[in-house]
Amino acid sequence: MVLTSRLVLAISLLTPATYAGVSPLDPPLNTGALDGQVDAERYIKICHAKYDQCRDEMSHGNSSYAAGCRSPENWIYASDFSEATPFLDRPDIVGIQTLYRWKETENPQNRYDFSEIRENLAAARSKGKKLWVQIQDRTFYVNSNPVPNYLHTPLYDNGSVPQCDGTNCEADFQPSGYAVAQWNKHVRRRFQALLNAMANEPDGEIYGVNLAETAISVEAWPRTQLEPDLNATENPNPQTGKQFTKEEFQNYAVNCLGVNIIFWATSTPWLNETQPNGR
Ligand SMILES: *[C@@H]1O[C@H](CO)[C@@H](O)[C@H](O)[C@H]1NC(C)=O
Ligand SMILES: *[C@@H]1O[C@H](CO)[C@@H](O)[C@H](O)[C@H]1NC(C)=O
Ligand SMILES: *[C@@H]1O[C@H](CO)[C@@H](O)[C@H](O)[C@H]1NC(C)=O
Ligand SMILES: *[C@@H]1O[C@H](CO)[C@@H](O)[C@H](O)[C@H]1NC(C)=O
Repeated sequence: MVLTSRLVLAISLLTPATYAGVSPLDPPLNTGALDGQVDAERYIKICHAKYDQCRDEMSHGNSSYAAGCRSPENWIYASDFSEATPFLDRPDIVGIQTLYRWKETENPQNRYDFSEIRENLAAARSKGKKLWVQIQDRTFYVNSNPVPNYLHTPLYDNGSVPQCDGTNCEADFQPSGYAVAQWNKHVRRRFQALLNAMANEPDGEIYGVNLAETAISVEAWPRTQLEPDLNATENPNPQTGKQFTKEEFQNYAVNCLGVNIIFWATSTPWLNETQPNGR
């Protein structure tokens, strides 16, 4: 499969539906002590300095992305491709990331069907856009099971289990969808066979593939005061007292996270506020 070679981490940056494609941190931010471990203090210092420099450049009466600020690619994230079609004509959008459930790509066993991906790819390409595929092994609706029916047998631990998504699941388990039983080695083999099949069929045409976030909550990532939040009511930018702007998001994403691509939710305010101008 020909994909971009960059490591892609899904970081829940904005709303639950918005992620950032992240490349590994610049080497100076790595301590080298443990592979991938970040020196938090150093990270925050460098990130703040780069962020401030970029902000200052932009504030000098130049509304376009300043010389010292790298501009990431802006993509649209949509759980369904049709939700993204209104954005296909915009010159400031590079591509569309969308979801495909396992069940839709393999059913019955060993019969793969990538026709929906092909259709969406053709629609994106006809407007000069790229397509990014998220293979979905979990759902957030109780009436939607992500796995093909043949997995609903004891060999596969029934293929999936109900999952609860919320803050009170231990005390009150209310199913809100299903998660694939990836802990079962037979399930994993079938899932890997799906990825292999994808590698052989829509080969080299899809810009990237990612799996759903595993949604663990950890404290390992150093938090900075700069981390932006789209919800202005709840969390305005402490530096300005206002809603974070697109430029502030991009600045943080590029200079603190090393991001090359931002996948924006279709509900992102700037998509309505700014006129598409190629940026
Ligand atoms: C704004 O910055 C860009 C990138 O550095 C530069 O090419 C452009 O000339 C600047 N525009 C103004 C009005 O200063
Ligand atoms: C297996 O999964 C199906 C579909 O989600 C569900 O209807 C059924 O109750 C499950 N069976 C068991 C034994 O959990
Ligand atoms: C933003 O915050 C308000 C106030 O807490 C909340 O009602 C609203 O649901 C939040 N919006 C989003 C998109 O999280
Ligand atoms: C953008 O405008 C459309 C049409 O007026 C509206 O339906 C949509 O909710 C708006 N989106 C945002 C994020 O404001």
